[in-house]
Amino acid sequence: QNDEPTTIVVFGASGDLAKKKTFPALFHLYQNGLLPKRTKIFGYARTQMDHAEFHKRVVSHFKSDADKEKVSEFLAICKYVSGKYDVDDDFERLRAEIDAAEADENVNTLPDRVHVYYMALPPSVFVSVATHIKKNVYDESCVNRIIIEKPFGHDSESSKQLSQDIGALFEEKEVFRIDHYLGKEMVKNIMTLRFANVFYEAVWNRHYVSNIQITFKEPFGTEGRGGYFDEFGIIRDVMQNHLLQVLSIVAMNQPKTLDAEDIRDRKTEVLRRILPIQLEDTLLGQYVGTHDGSKPGYKDDDTVPKDSNTPTFAQCVMHVDNDRWRGVPWVIKAGKALDEAKMLIRIQFKDMPSALFPNLARNELVIQVSPKEAVYLKTIVKKPGLSTRLAMSELDLTYSKRYHDIKIPDAYATLILDVLNGDHSNFVRSDELEEAWRIFTPLLHKIEDESVVPFPYEYGSRGPKGVDEFTSERANYKRTNLEYRWETDM
Ligand code: BG6
Repeated sequence: QNDEPTTIVVFGASGDLAKKKTFPALFHLYQNGLLPKRTKIFGYARTQMDHAEFHKRVVSHFKSDADKEKVSEFLAICKYVSGKYDVDDDFERLRAEIDAAEADENVNTLPDRVHVYYMALPPSVFVSVATHIKKNVYDESCVNRIIIEKPFGHDSESSKQLSQDIGALFEEKEVFRIDHYLGKEMVKNIMTLRFANVFYEAVWNRHYVSNIQITFKEPFGTEGRGGYFDEFGIIRDVMQNHLLQVLSIVAMNQPKTLDAEDIRDRKTEVLRRILPIQLEDTLLGQYVGTHDGSKPGYKDDDTVPKDSNTPTFAQCVMHVDNDRWRGVPWVIKAGKALDEAKMLIRIQFKDMPSALFPNLARNELVIQVSPKEAVYLKTIVKKPGLSTRLAMSELDLTYSKRYHDIKIPDAYATLILDVLNGDHSNFVRSDELEEAWRIFTPLLHKIEDESVVPFPYEYGSRGPKGVDEFTSERANYKRTNLEYRWETDM
């Protein structure tokens, strides 16, 4: 473990992201002895508040069973500085506080000190804060790292501008772009599954795979976030980043080493082989209220314009044009206010051309990222007992059944730990980001320029009409008979 004296500054410390994700993740690391010993944490935001009030907010989303002693030890290293996001003097005060804290610890001259600047901020103040960090807080005599989080622009052009602005201030090796899906246990597991098991890698190509689905479903709408969401829509909110990142890891070729740059080279390489998505290859939806009025529609939210065409559901078919995947359709689907909470990768294999058993259902490998981490392989067996018929079953690795004492950490905790260790493997490089926008920007512009109207679907349903036909017709997905249910879900 890395034990360099470390100062972490959380900008936007009074906001939602900091409260819900950043501070609980930092506490998780602290509690498990994973923060370097001499760590100091500063919260910085515009809100005027004293330390007691700040500490109240820091702990507001800690788990109710958090160890009280650990919490007070943790709060003792958390200090608050209030300041504007565009005033030199305020950032200088912050710098003075950091210097004083480091002098107190006698670490202020150590060259291996680390400063981490965590931007839990809205995009409107991003560049201003980054500029002031560089001007007033950045310390040439130590290691500086900046963490930023989406939205990284809203299309190719704005993202390029943002990359240029950030690139003028920080070197790429100092920048950590968070996509929190890259910190999820099962996403981090994909490379191990693929490259450490002889049988997966052997069939991981167009010769054996018929189609792949990457699915994100949430059972709630944009309640309370409608105003924010309406500017982005589901494609920018979830697909262009989280789902495409997952796709790139499932699709990439084996990296030369486990080094971050080798991994990111391979991911970028495979993204370059994806053609921009066409509107014709897309199904868009927007949820409406339930018949009985118990759940609201997207446009019932007062912060959403009444004529909004923003999709809350999207499904599209994509193609990776390389030797491994040519001809294999990839369906990515994301939606709010659907029938369940689920994020998974479903790899459906080709038909088994068996002379013994005609009309077999297809094998599928499912990697479930949430809610229950699992990998299962749908496998045909002889129906147990006296019957000679066949049945679909599964080889099931459900983590909660297999690993009893392991608590899977929140994605943010693992990602912050990576930053402390200077490991970029699970962060998005600027060229990857550029490719991601190249794939989605023409579609997004077309939807907006032509005011494409999404199809309605009822809150709590499977999505707009035609959602299942889309996967069977466009991707040749063949559903297993309807009686089949995955054992863990029963
Ligand atoms: C965020 C999106 O990036 O990811 C949200 O902005 C979405 O709309 C969330 O709900 C999903 O993350 P998780 O970790 O809950 O699957």
